[in-house]
Amino acid sequence: MAEKNESNNSEDGRWTLQGKTALVTGGTKGIGHAIVEELAGFGATVYTCCRNQEQLDQCLEKWRGKGYKVEGCVCDLTLRPQREMLMEKVINFFQGKLNILINNAGILLVKPATEFTEDDYSIIMKINFEASHHISQIAHPILKASESGNTVFISSIAGLVALPTSSIYAATKAAMNQLTRNLAYEWAKDNIRVNAVAPSIINTPLIEAAKKNPLTK
Ligand SMILES: NC(=O)c1ccc[n+]([C@@H]2O[C@H](COP(=O)([O-])OP(=O)(O)OC[C@H]3O[C@@H](n4cnc5c(N)ncnc54)[C@H](OP(=O)(O)O)[C@@H]3O)[C@@H](O)[C@H]2O)c1
Repeated sequence: MAEKNESNNSEDGRWTLQGKTALVTGGTKGIGHAIVEELAGFGATVYTCCRNQEQLDQCLEKWRGKGYKVEGCVCDLTLRPQREMLMEKVINFFQGKLNILINNAGILLVKPATEFTEDDYSIIMKINFEASHHISQIAHPILKASESGNTVFISSIAGLVALPTSSIYAATKAAMNQLTRNLAYEWAKDNIRVNAVAPSIINTPLIEAAKKNPLTK
C-alpha cells in the first residue's frame, strides 16, 4: 500500500476521505486488513469485524498507534442475529450515515464437487453470499442517508471462470456478481453505487490455508 501524506490526502492533494465513514467486514487479515489501512490512511473513519477478539484488539491498537480512526467488534457473520448486532453498533457509531460498505469477509473451501458435505455448503453460502446480502440490506438506509453511498463486494475471478476444486466457492462469487448488478440498478436512485472487485490469487492467510490442502498442490 502506498504511504499517504500527513494530511490524509492523495499524493497530489486532489482527494481525501476525511469525514467519510466505512464498514469493512473481515478487516483483521489479508485483503480486508489492507482495505482498512487504505481507507483509514486517506482519512476515513472505519468500522470492522472478525471472529477473533485477540486479533481484533491487536489490529485496533496498531491502527490507533498510526493515528487511524478505526473501531471494531467481534461478530460471526454466519449468524443472522450477530449480523444484526454488528449493524446496530455500526448505525450508532456512525450516527446513521455510512458512505462505504466493503463486503469482504469470506472463506475458501477446496474439494472435488462430489465431496462437499451439507455443512460445507451451508457455511460457505452463509459467510460468502448470505452475509454479504444481509449486511447490504440492513446497511441500505444508512448508505442512502449519507447521500453518497458506495457498496463494494469482494468477489473472485473464480466467479467468472472455472477453476478446479472450488465449485461452491465459485458459485457464491458468481451469485455475488449478479447481486452486484441488481443492487447497482435498484439503488442508483438512492445515490448508492454498487460494484464488485474480482481478484485473482493474492497471498493471504486464506490462500495459505488452501495451500495446506493436498488437493490444491
Ligand atoms: N486471497 C485471494 O487470493 C482472494 C482472491 C479472490 C477473492 N478473495 C476474496 O477476498 C476476501 C478476503 O479474502 P482474504 O484472502 O483476505 O481472506 P483472509 O486472509 O482469510 O481474511 C478473511 C477475513 O475475514 C474474517 N472472517 C472470516 N470468516 C468470518 C466470519 N464468519 N465472520 C466474521 N469475519 C470473518 C477473518 O477473521 P476471523 O477469521 O478472525 O473471523 C479475516 O479478517 C474473501 O471474500 C475472498 O473470497 C480472496
